[in-house]
Amino acid sequence: MSLLRVEKLSKSFDGLKALKEVSFIVARDQIKAIIGPNGAGKTTLFNVLTGVLKPTSGEAFFKNQKITGLKTHQIVRLGIARTFQTPLLFEELTVLENVMLAAGLTFNRSWLPFGSVRQEAEEKARETGLELLAFVKLKSKADLPAGLLTAGERRLLEIARALALKPTLIMLDEPAAGLTPAERDNLKELLYEIKSRGATILLVEHDMGLVMEICDEVLVLDEGEKIAEGPPLLIQEDEQVIEAYLGGELDA
Ligand SMILES: Nc1ncnc2c1ncn2[C@@H]1O[C@H](COP(=O)(O)OP(=O)(O)OP(=O)(O)O)[C@@H](O)[C@H]1O
Ligand SMILES: [Mg+2]
Repeated sequence: MSLLRVEKLSKSFDGLKALKEVSFIVARDQIKAIIGPNGAGKTTLFNVLTGVLKPTSGEAFFKNQKITGLKTHQIVRLGIARTFQTPLLFEELTVLENVMLAAGLTFNRSWLPFGSVRQEAEEKARETGLELLAFVKLKSKADLPAGLLTAGERRLLEIARALALKPTLIMLDEPAAGLTPAERDNLKELLYEIKSRGATILLVEHDMGLVMEICDEVLVLDEGEKIAEGPPLLIQEDEQVIEAYLGGELDA
């Protein structure tokens, strides 16, 4: 069954057509990758699907509900969470506080009731936060300011934060960028674990090895256009894909 359905999505910036009538579906429980050269429109696609940008035309449906036109917080509430190509963290807050904030339950939120109810909410957020940090293997850094994390740890924190939103679909923009080989292997296990806990994953990634290893399906964008879609093994052999993108990457 399709969880996300994208229909002829286009996005133009002035004269530049960053997305050209892109259509695809993401099935429930899949790990699907979007690949393509720099400037292909991958991040733009994520921005349109998460309400950061309005599409020029086309529509997207999540659980059969139209999401194009909705605001980011409404889309999050429906069950989509994402991470960014450049992790956006609250640098001065601790690692744990970053995750607690994502759950919208931190003690800093003035709308929370005072007294014991508020304390309970905060305690629960802390518990959930620590669980998620343990899940991404970042618990030992819980009390450090997020600004002190390494590139790889920042990515893990972003993932923990996205998971705090309890998404049905998690969208990751280049999660392996800047990771050491050990961190990359850890990420791979983490993605499998996220999938086995029932979330569907859509990721943009330049690390072809990772994509080919873990993805059920790959979609290739080139200059805003979908040029191929299918299982990794077929994509690897697709002439048009090799020409646009894969040749150099795979030989490297
Ligand atoms: N806010 C914006 N305003 C104007 N042009 C933009 C904007 N965002 C993206 N673009 C342009 O749209 C095209 C697609 O960019 P996008 O960031 O989606 O590519 P990408 O596939 O994510 O590339 P990369 O692999 O480098 O991250 C590029 O030509 C880019 O310059
Ligand atoms: Mg990008």
